[in-house]
Amino acid sequence: MSAETYVPAPMPSIGVDVADAYLAKGYQTVPGMSSRFAAAVCGRLLRLQTEFGISGPIAEIGTFEGRFFIALGHALEVGEVALGIDLFDWPNPEVLQRFEANCTKHGLAAARRVTWKTDSRTMTPADMLAKVGGQKLRFFHIDGEHSRDALTRDLERATAVMAPEGIIVLDDMLHPGYPTLMVAVQQWLERNPDWCPLAVLDRETIVAATKFVFCRRDMFKRYETRMLDIFAANIWPLGADFEPHWCLVLGRDTRLAAIT
Ligand SMILES: C[S@@+](CC[C@H](N)C(=O)[O-])C[C@H]1O[C@@H](n2cnc3c(N)ncnc32)[C@H](O)[C@@H]1O
Repeated sequence: MSAETYVPAPMPSIGVDVADAYLAKGYQTVPGMSSRFAAAVCGRLLRLQTEFGISGPIAEIGTFEGRFFIALGHALEVGEVALGIDLFDWPNPEVLQRFEANCTKHGLAAARRVTWKTDSRTMTPADMLAKVGGQKLRFFHIDGEHSRDALTRDLERATAVMAPEGIIVLDDMLHPGYPTLMVAVQQWLERNPDWCPLAVLDRETIVAATKFVFCRRDMFKRYETRMLDIFAANIWPLGADFEPHWCLVLGRDTRLAAIT
């Protein structure tokens, strides 16, 4: 396909009216960094879990003003909660009020969320579980401090609280500004061979960067089979080589290199 005729692949939909309306009209109005594409894919993955009969709380480290968090929260079932974890001190302490106001403005009711102002360096898995009623988590988005040590620590704590069918998503992977995060990911995979990459979500911009999606190996085929269907229009044909494991690459630009 030539550059002149290139049309981006469609934006996936979450499949919940309020969530898709938020993505279409509210998402870009809430300050934040994650791509709308990644929010749509992650919201749809939450719905896929629901279709599979998987239920439970979810969490995000690094909620900031709530852009991504609100999208995830709208994809939950009644009775499920989203735990939002942040220092809530950057760029100023009022970010906490702005987070709460954004959730309210965009319809994520107080009963569906738990706000936790804390330093992820100090929280324990038991602390996290206590915040969500003791139930293991089905989905965890890690988007806090972007150092190798911090990601290692956040990943270990998330891993300890995940349900068997749980999904972990990491932000700012392969970002030019944070090249050592990939080292932390590789080492985490080597320490946790029951986990594997499920998908790479390609970036929209340098800020709205790539995310990695992980699940346990015994869930991989189950998720992948349905994702091949659900995200058929967004699959980059060559996939990602995690040596020796391969996983899906999803994006809006699914072209291969022109070689003629
Ligand atoms: C890149 S922003 C998150 C963007 C947001 N997830 C989005 O998609 O719009 C990173 C956030 O991580 C938070 N953070 C950094 N270090 C942290 C720590 N040690 N504990 C908790 N939150 C932390 C920051 O306060 C900041 O709000």
